[in-house]
Amino acid sequence: MRSKLLIVGGAGYIGSHMVLKLVESGFEVLVLDNLSTGLRELVGEVEFIQGDLGDGELMDKLFREHSVSAVMHFAAFSQVGESMRRPLRYWRNNISKPVELLDAMARHGVFKFIFSSSAAVYGEPESVPIAEDSELRPTNPYGATKVAMEHLLADMDTAFGMKSVSLRYFNAAGADPKGRVGEAHEPETHLIPLVLRVAAGQSEKIMIYGTDYPTPDGTCVRDYIHVNDLASAHLLALEHLMDGGGSEVFNLGNSRGYSVREVIDIARKVSGKEIPALEVERRQGDPARLVASSEKIKRVLDWKPEFEDMETIVNTAWNWHITSLRELGG
Ligand code: UFG
Repeated sequence: MRSKLLIVGGAGYIGSHMVLKLVESGFEVLVLDNLSTGLRELVGEVEFIQGDLGDGELMDKLFREHSVSAVMHFAAFSQVGESMRRPLRYWRNNISKPVELLDAMARHGVFKFIFSSSAAVYGEPESVPIAEDSELRPTNPYGATKVAMEHLLADMDTAFGMKSVSLRYFNAAGADPKGRVGEAHEPETHLIPLVLRVAAGQSEKIMIYGTDYPTPDGTCVRDYIHVNDLASAHLLALEHLMDGGGSEVFNLGNSRGYSVREVIDIARKVSGKEIPALEVERRQGDPARLVASSEKIKRVLDWKPEFEDMETIVNTAWNWHITSLRELGG
């Protein structure tokens, strides 16, 4: 039986880009997704199981019936604001369910795991760019669940020798340049797709959440990284584990921050549309500035981002938005 990679949450935004990259690289892929937020259309022809990673019996059956060499997890809830209002939903989905998955992996002797962590583990950093050894002080339940998962993975290594790579993403953005998959959350809360909805005439204006942050133009600064560059980092992390490498934690960003206003201006340029904006109150739980140092992953895994230019990143998102999102009913 040829061994497979299990991609949990492979029908989501980042998971679906990962699946494409793995298939193109010749891997055998099995996707598990409960479709609570994912879209079946994003998975394509790949072997697909609709189910929940928190279902121990299902996981036993899956690991019995398939030879799985490694697992990648893309199934967390990821909205900072929602996590402030509904913490239990986040702890249940982002911790309780992965506990069941890791337990099943240990029972079936699968000891390689790649985890989608987040810049949200740092909270409000004392300085930017942020390196991996900066203090972990999450300011919202979402970030707290990511820190807890990283602790759990360290414990799994100590107890069972499970090796893992945690990739702390900064702001995932953009879409497959060939337009096959892209970002389609419902409800959408992320800045770039919301700005593009305004550009496409699907909504009236973009809200700018807070203009009194201690940043050059008063709006929050984020480090946007193209989703394909996230996927290529996962591939390198996988090779690292397959070669017998140890557990690691890496930041993943472009090391360049853009304010909310700058992002809106870039979207205006890319789309050629006016994009009306309205300044409103801060959104709860948002740190002022998050910019990565990605030196470690460049040094250790030789990761090289392909899409460093923000206009190119927004352009891939715009192309996907105007051609495909309507087909998905977004
Ligand atoms: N924003 C607006 N208006 C909007 C939407 C967002 O002004 O309509 C602002 C937010 O306040 C924030 C910035 O745009 O300052 C980016 O917001 P996103 O919602 O796009 O992304 P976040 O930075 O809140 O969060 C994202 C992921 C998290 C991850 C984090 C790490 O959703 O999972 O990046 O940087 F933890």
